[in-house]
Amino acid sequence: MFSFMAEQYEAYPYPYRNPEEETIGKTRTHLNDFPEIAHYRSGGLMTFDKDYRVLVAGGGTGDATVHLAQEMARYCPDAELVHLDLSSSSINVAKKRLEKIGLGGRVTFIQDSLLNLPQGKYGEFDHIDCSGVLHHQKDPLAGAKALRSVLKPNGMMSIMLYGLYGRLAVYEIQKIMKEIYKEGDSLDDLIRCVRQWIHAAPATHPFKQALMDVVEKDDNEIVDMFLHVQDRAYTVPDLYDLWDRSDLELVTLRPEIDYNVCARLPEGMLRDRILEMPLAKQQAYGEQLYSAHAIHLMYVRRKGETATPAPRPQDHDMIPYILPFGLEFRQQVISIGLVNLQPYNTQLDATHMAILSRIDNETPIKDILKSTAQALGKDKALIEEAWLTVYEEFRMRGFMVLHKFP
Ligand SMILES: C[S@@+](CC[C@H](N)C(=O)[O-])C[C@H]1O[C@@H](n2cnc3c(N)ncnc32)[C@H](O)[C@@H]1O
Repeated sequence: MFSFMAEQYEAYPYPYRNPEEETIGKTRTHLNDFPEIAHYRSGGLMTFDKDYRVLVAGGGTGDATVHLAQEMARYCPDAELVHLDLSSSSINVAKKRLEKIGLGGRVTFIQDSLLNLPQGKYGEFDHIDCSGVLHHQKDPLAGAKALRSVLKPNGMMSIMLYGLYGRLAVYEIQKIMKEIYKEGDSLDDLIRCVRQWIHAAPATHPFKQALMDVVEKDDNEIVDMFLHVQDRAYTVPDLYDLWDRSDLELVTLRPEIDYNVCARLPEGMLRDRILEMPLAKQQAYGEQLYSAHAIHLMYVRRKGETATPAPRPQDHDMIPYILPFGLEFRQQVISIGLVNLQPYNTQLDATHMAILSRIDNETPIKDILKSTAQALGKDKALIEEAWLTVYEEFRMRGFMVLHKFP
């Protein structure tokens, strides 16, 4: 096994990516679409100028960097994007992917530790992506504080950290592999052992399907998940504690529906009692009830900043934006005819479908509602009500945001 993390990512860059296969639009990452960043950072106003600076901390083989470079080419072509990682082999893969799509010149690559950010060598940033990195630090709090030290006022961070409840089986396997390991064993031997263990698990194993999905991927995935030198996972209270101690705070956990305990409970005493509790406690219960978060996705900002209010669907100058991960869901709702959305039992009808089919990520709400009303010959108030339902259902699932250009 590896003794140091840097050694691991040098040998097994993560995630495994073939630069030859990169094409424009192929790679999408969570929380890095500019309309979504604008929704949560600036009330939906798309104000990304040439001074805007973005850091991908622990960028690995470049998924977020590839995505962000394309967003920046579109919304702020003169702004700066920095990809920082400890691993030179990961950086090389990221570089080649960006070159393949003609965006190589847009990114500054730095081989260094994010723990050195407070030294000030690389300046400050408006947006920081740090996905799957802090939980691999010996001291994740030091990592979080290092990121905080270079986050500009009103800046935001896109963060992914492991979730405990969805990774219990992963930690069991990590422990078993450490127990069977003998000095001199090769990584190839251990990778084979992991595969054998998972294949041998019966179908009744509670995580069989999730484990099988991983085991069929590449060796880099097996190493990162089951043979990692160093990782830990978080519950919702752990997240609140981490951010609090690093002088940061949560903007939102995504998708909100997966942390919304009350959405899953019927009306009555249990629900009422939980509703009286602070949001953090409700989300902690939400996580326990949902019970399968293997990752937590979230936006984070500096503590104590006055938050810009989220854009409102009643502001008809806003443009609804369906995020890439929501396009398939929209397609299912429209063409397969999903009409009863859980867990709210929301009934969708032809009016909802007509609104949804008019959202093209460019047309403002007012034009969508007007053309729907004309096409269906329906009253404006009914169309407005249907729009609010569509928006809430998609927003809660992390599939829709609102934005506009200044
Ligand atoms: C699990 S990978 C995630 C890569 C990428 N963020 C993604 O989501 O695809 C973790 C990456 O963080 C890098 N890393 C870990 N600790 C770091 C540190 N202290 N400073 C910079 N990079 C680090 C590793 O080299 C590795 O490339």
